[in-house]
Amino acid sequence: MTRRRLIIDCDPGHDDFAAIALAATSVGLEIEAITTVCGNAPIERTTANALAIVGALGVPIPVYSGAVAPLLQRYEFPAAFHGVTGLDSVGATLPPPRQGVTPGHAALEIIARVNAAPGEITLVALGPMTNLALALALDPDVATKVRELVFMGGGLSGGNVTARAEFNVWADPEAAALVLRSGIKATMFGLDVTNRAWLDADDLARLKAAVAAPNPVSDIIQFYTERSGDVAAGRAPGPSLHDTCPVAWLVDPTLFETESLPVTVDTTGGPHYGATDADRRPWAPPHHQRIDVALELDQPRLARLVTDALIDVAKRIANQAQVAESLTRNALG
Ligand code: BDR
Ligand code: CA
Repeated sequence: MTRRRLIIDCDPGHDDFAAIALAATSVGLEIEAITTVCGNAPIERTTANALAIVGALGVPIPVYSGAVAPLLQRYEFPAAFHGVTGLDSVGATLPPPRQGVTPGHAALEIIARVNAAPGEITLVALGPMTNLALALALDPDVATKVRELVFMGGGLSGGNVTARAEFNVWADPEAAALVLRSGIKATMFGLDVTNRAWLDADDLARLKAAVAAPNPVSDIIQFYTERSGDVAAGRAPGPSLHDTCPVAWLVDPTLFETESLPVTVDTTGGPHYGATDADRRPWAPPHHQRIDVALELDQPRLARLVTDALIDVAKRIANQAQVAESLTRNALG
């Protein structure tokens, strides 16, 4: 089987972590590179977290650091939802990274890799789309040379940072607008589905029980669960791992129902700044680019898939710790 080649552009981030875990443990997918962007935390943190995640997976995936700020940088990002590190935990944390950042800017690396393999690379965007916008501004042909783009962002039914705007699009609306206008073949996984991409108490218990403590994967997801406003308000039985959706669709598209819609981003700077809209009028102006938008998901099947991936990574970390321990024991004689 040929594996689908991915570049994951992300800002880890608890749900970015879960999405990378899902991609790395799926036989049909191959992560060629991870590129990082500022978003859930400053770029130094999202890059350090990506390196720690790659170390936890035990596979050598190059990590390229990218944009330090959104294109226009109109405001301060809100207090870190993902904690000070961007990947806070209630207990154990990921082991220190085993590799350093690879030299080269994320946007330039995207351009180089897409041009080296036209039609082959799937871009997976899990954070603000600043790196993608920079790549497309420098080389607009990237839009037609990628296989496709799948992204977590936006939402037609409401926002999470403001009443109408979702964080990834709100964080860099101009970048998202540029990407969606570029002609790129795209599928959007917005809050319409990702708000329901939760793990419930049974899933969390299964993750916790999968390996003996310390279980950093379980502790990291537990931090995110305790931060969730939807969980606190009783609107969700567990944490919504938004970023897992686009990756899950690549694994199994039958998990979602999508519709082709003309989606635009509000860049007016008004109260709906950063909101995504779909003009459903049959006579909507043709210049609105149509993209596929996920509107339904099979939550129980998604939760099983994601929990299994997280357990796989929890076991990898436990095995690495055991190997390190026995090497130390042998060295000490
Ligand atoms: C998005 O915002 C971030 O906090 C998450 O990682 C996800 O990409 C959800 O709105
Ligand atoms: Ca993210």
